[in-house]
Amino acid sequence: MKLTHRAQHAEPFHALAFGERAAALEADGHRVVKLSIGEPDFGAPPAVLEAMRDAMDGRPLPYTPALGLPALRAAIAGFYRDKHGVEVDPARIAITTGASSALLLATAATTEAGDEVIIADPSYPCNREMVTSFGGTLVSVPTTADTRYQLDVASVEAAWSERTNAVMIASPSNPTGTTIPFAELAAICDLARTHGAWRIVDEIYLDLADPDDNGTPAPTVLAADPEAIVIGSFSKYFGMTGWRLGWAVVPEELVAAVEKLAMHYFLSASTPAQHAALAAFTPESLAVCEQRRLELVARRHLVLDGLATLDLPVPVTPDGAFYVYIDVSRTGLDAWTFCERALDSAHVALTPGRDFATATANTHVRLSYAASREDLAEGLARLGMFLSQLADHTPSPS
Ligand SMILES: Cc1ncc(COP(=O)(O)O)c(C=O)c1O
Repeated sequence: MKLTHRAQHAEPFHALAFGERAAALEADGHRVVKLSIGEPDFGAPPAVLEAMRDAMDGRPLPYTPALGLPALRAAIAGFYRDKHGVEVDPARIAITTGASSALLLATAATTEAGDEVIIADPSYPCNREMVTSFGGTLVSVPTTADTRYQLDVASVEAAWSERTNAVMIASPSNPTGTTIPFAELAAICDLARTHGAWRIVDEIYLDLADPDDNGTPAPTVLAADPEAIVIGSFSKYFGMTGWRLGWAVVPEELVAAVEKLAMHYFLSASTPAQHAALAAFTPESLAVCEQRRLELVARRHLVLDGLATLDLPVPVTPDGAFYVYIDVSRTGLDAWTFCERALDSAHVALTPGRDFATATANTHVRLSYAASREDLAEGLARLGMFLSQLADHTPSPS
């Protein structure tokens, strides 16, 4: 029997493989510091946990409509209005099983054989797989620290062809943690819209992005491009990774298609999770999430200071997602070997650039600072020892 081309050629997600290797070391009794997975250690806000307990009172928990609980769609629209100052019709919001399914629906609804999709290199690996799974052609645009590893109008224009069907952007980005300047994002969207191409903007880290100097939250792309397809999630800002809950805001013309596809792909997102997620938008829960955002900023400083002391360069300072993309080329090891050796000898799990990039695949590694301060300090101390052992074993230039 045969496997499809897409199944055979899907790249593994190396972060998870390193995570499994870390778990095997732990099973052997080692304490591993896991800085490889983008998962905050806080869990859901207390009111959400309480609401989940309430939902488990024995009542039947049937499927919800394919696009999700109307009350949750309205609550998300309210969040966009109150926090980001944009009006979104709840009818345009689809509740999904994490941002992952939102990306799946968005790609399934917009991409087919012959379509080109422009994506930055480096970027979140699943996006690339989604595009190729649906027969699309990936147009991977190498970026540099000069544009904070994000696309800009000039690079999108240069990559444009008559077959370009969509531009996919994550802001803030995984693996670099950087936000694309809003004017640049708006200009890219303008360009794509003028050419009749889709704009798929992954904003799952948006609410973790630094506010501006006046305290105004980082703006959503919807403020500039109300017809963009926007991906959101309860995983990161709300600390609900395992709950598998996210959303897509889609233009009106896509609603019916996305509803049909959602019915076929997953019927509905988890019913108890949706009920509980309503409690994520209370002032009390939002205050908890803001407190946690500030804690992540403190962790970012801890990590950046620690890496500077270790002389490990971080070419772009993150301003949103909880990642630093470290250039390890000075160590003399390629990024993959660096991650392998850091895990095997120092028991620190990191993610090699190969997961995200071509251009920086061998030179960069991603560190997630979503771990506790204690783990981050321990991880940095171990990396320091690892680097000094490495230096001892590296022959000095003659
Ligand atoms: C940029 C980006 N998009 C989407 C996802 C998937 O998130 P979710 O847990 O909501 O499926 C991730 C997860 O790390 C991510 O980094």
